[in-house]
Amino acid sequence: MRDTKEKLTLTTIILHWIIALGMISLIILGIYMTENHTYALYPIHKSLGVILLFIALFRTVWRFVNKLPKPVRQCTPLELILSKVVHYSLIIGTLLIPISGIAMSTFSGHGVQLFNFVLIEPNLNPAESGKVIALNTFLADAASLIHAISNYIVILCISLHILAALKHHFYDRDSVLKRMLGQRV
Ligand code: HEM
Ligand code: HEM
Repeated sequence: MRDTKEKLTLTTIILHWIIALGMISLIILGIYMTENHTYALYPIHKSLGVILLFIALFRTVWRFVNKLPKPVRQCTPLELILSKVVHYSLIIGTLLIPISGIAMSTFSGHGVQLFNFVLIEPNLNPAESGKVIALNTFLADAASLIHAISNYIVILCISLHILAALKHHFYDRDSVLKRMLGQRV
């Protein structure tokens, strides 16, 4: 089943809200744990991030098969371009952020786990009572920079995206938000 101008499929709606909730929670968790050096939260952040990557990969394929939702009404070329740029940036961000996170954790030698299941082994030095040794400091730093910058770009896009959704709902009084909430328009 495909999305139509009148109604979005349940798959599109469920995927949108899972990713939205997941991204916003992981951004808050990521900033909190980094600012407060709460290292106990790192494995939880990484595990949830890996799960989000799998859902985002599925959603990206779904999006390309289905194309972006058609506008509910006639809109200006600027509105159309802006919405496409923000939507594609969000889709790319949901892939780039977890992939750079995995690269950062791998090259820094910390490894990646999915809760109790080890996906990428940490690189430990047995001679120094299991101290973590970086595999490649340059690549670890580059991935860390990509993780941080792409997060800030996505935070900007999410803010614009939420403002746009509110403008559509309360100012234009059209059905863009209602359609993403499952209503036929
Ligand atoms: C409270 C937060 C959010 C609200 C109210 C919201 C609302 C909406 C609405 C109303 C649409 C439909 C736009 C249209 O029909 O043209 C939409 C689409 C979209 N949203 Fe959100 N959104 C939120 C959070 C997010 C987040 C956090 C992301 C990703 C990081 C995201 C990514 C997208 C994408 C990529 C689309 C294009 C359609 C699709 O791929 O399903 N949204 N959003
Ligand atoms: C889509 C999911 C993700 C989001 C939205 C996200 C978001 C964030 C944010 C906002 C920060 C704080 C800013 C920064 O230092 O970059 C952060 C830090 C971090 N993230 Fe993620 N992240 C995600 C996935 C992942 C994954 C999959 C991993 C690794 C497997 C990961 C590993 C880390 C690490 C290790 C830090 C701490 C960096 C430091 O101490 O400097 N993240 N994340």
